[in-house]
Amino acid sequence: MQDFDVVVIGSGPGGYVSAIRSAQLGFKVAIIEKYAVMGGTCLNVGCIPSKALLDSSEHYYNAVHSFEEHGIDIAKPKVNMGQMIKRKAGVVSNLNAGISYLMKKNKITTFHGLGSFDSAKTVKVTKEDGSSEVISAKNIIIATGSKPTILPFIPVDKERIITSTEALKMKEVPKHLIVIGAGVIGAELGSVYARLGSKVSFIEFADSMIPTMDKTMGKELQKSIAKMGADFYLSHKVTSAAVKGKEVTVKAQDSAGKEVEIKGDYCLVCIGRRPYTDGLNLAAAGLTADDRGRVAVDEHTLQTSVPGIYAIGDVVRGAMLAHKAEEEGTFVAEVIAGQKPHINYNLIPGVVYTWPEVAAVGKTEQELKAAGIAYKEGSFPFKALGRAIASGDVDGVCKVLADATTDEILGVHIIGARAADMIAEAVVAMEYRASAEDVARMSHAHPTYTEAMKEACLAATAKRSIHS
Ligand code: FAD
Ligand code: NAI
Repeated sequence: MQDFDVVVIGSGPGGYVSAIRSAQLGFKVAIIEKYAVMGGTCLNVGCIPSKALLDSSEHYYNAVHSFEEHGIDIAKPKVNMGQMIKRKAGVVSNLNAGISYLMKKNKITTFHGLGSFDSAKTVKVTKEDGSSEVISAKNIIIATGSKPTILPFIPVDKERIITSTEALKMKEVPKHLIVIGAGVIGAELGSVYARLGSKVSFIEFADSMIPTMDKTMGKELQKSIAKMGADFYLSHKVTSAAVKGKEVTVKAQDSAGKEVEIKGDYCLVCIGRRPYTDGLNLAAAGLTADDRGRVAVDEHTLQTSVPGIYAIGDVVRGAMLAHKAEEEGTFVAEVIAGQKPHINYNLIPGVVYTWPEVAAVGKTEQELKAAGIAYKEGSFPFKALGRAIASGDVDGVCKVLADATTDEILGVHIIGARAADMIAEAVVAMEYRASAEDVARMSHAHPTYTEAMKEACLAATAKRSIHS
């Protein structure tokens, strides 16, 4: 039996990063992935392919809607869905190869097959051809990720009623796409098809889009997406969905019980994701999943209730984000090596890659109110930024929340062009516990979108933004 210091089950951003960090720390490492390709949800059916399609659809949308204004005359562009999906597949396979290369470079043994516990110290790998082998390890890291949540009364046939996975490999542009759930996936993939010409209808249980983010963000994002002709059924609960031929009929009720019926040719269900431990045989290791399917871990070590078994990423509590999984991957390897690493969960940024992009870190205004924390607010609209006017990307606002007494930045919420990249400044500032005045006094290159952050900090610290 092959024996390892560390065996990682799952090769998503949590798993492969923990394998690399473990190898860097001198451990003999193996990684088990049930699919033929490495990279998990994020690389194969998540972050990367969705961003490839977001970028392609944005090029198309700009070609149709803003080239003429910029003085570029072209023949009317057409969507070539086959090529768009082919390009996306190329981006993914390029990065698949990159991870395989990193495994080899770090001398990590890779097993392709389903990993299931044989005992608390051994894992059985069952390969696609049915053969199996058992390997042993001093430490085992569960990084098996998540899968889409399915409503029992919605028949997801993966043809007409689809999840994000199918929405990333469509053969045609839907005429009318019904999106159940206006959260992160709904906003991103709904945007892709709205830009490509689909009529998009969002049905959302909460009273705004992206409801877990600061309320201003959902409101502004809805305005931008509505400009593409999308319509919204907010505070609506889906009651049924049915497919007949090429037509999908979805019924939903508003909070007063009034029913609406929406007909489209595709329906995307994106109402959250569930932790995934199917086939892992947790019981053989003495573990059970909790009532939400998660593997419980100790806050300080990410160790499960069984010594030597750890869990990270989407399969444990917390935000289901690739960079959160990566931080936990590094953290757990360092814990195993006897180090004392730290993760500041309050400063894990959240980004929605629509256009304008939405990005946030720290507390929302609603969270500060609920916690009774006195705060100051400073906002700056993108329409007052020279850079935004030059590019034509004037939708958006940067909102900074700072402690009323100390001026420490408690939350930054940005919707606007390149917000995804801008949020890094807020993370650094908050990690060093900067005040709004600290950031306001730092030079920001002109003309850049980042000036919105400086101006919002000026507004928060002393209501003295210069350009608005
Ligand atoms: P996963 O990436 O899910 O990887 C788990 C791996 O374990 C999989 O490869 C699976 O096959 C394997 N596995 C499971 N069970 C076994 C077993 N028993 N044996 C062997 N292997 C097993 N997050 C962001 O931060 N930014 C984004 O832009 C973003 N976009 C997204 C877009 C979409 C459409 C989706 C669906 C998700 C997106 N996410 C994004 C979320 C992100 O993909 C996840 O948070 C991230 O992949 C979690 O990483 P993980 O390592 O915990 O698990
Ligand atoms: P989500 O939690 O972001 O959104 C789900 C939405 O569905 C919520 O707004 C919720 O109120 C709504 N909903 C739930 N049940 C409903 C019902 N019965 N009827 C109508 N609406 C209902 O989950 P989503 O979008 O599926 O994404 C899953 C995970 O993937 C998220 O946790 C997210 O962190 C991650 N992700 C991250 C991305 C990023 O970082 N850019 C991109 C895509 C996904």
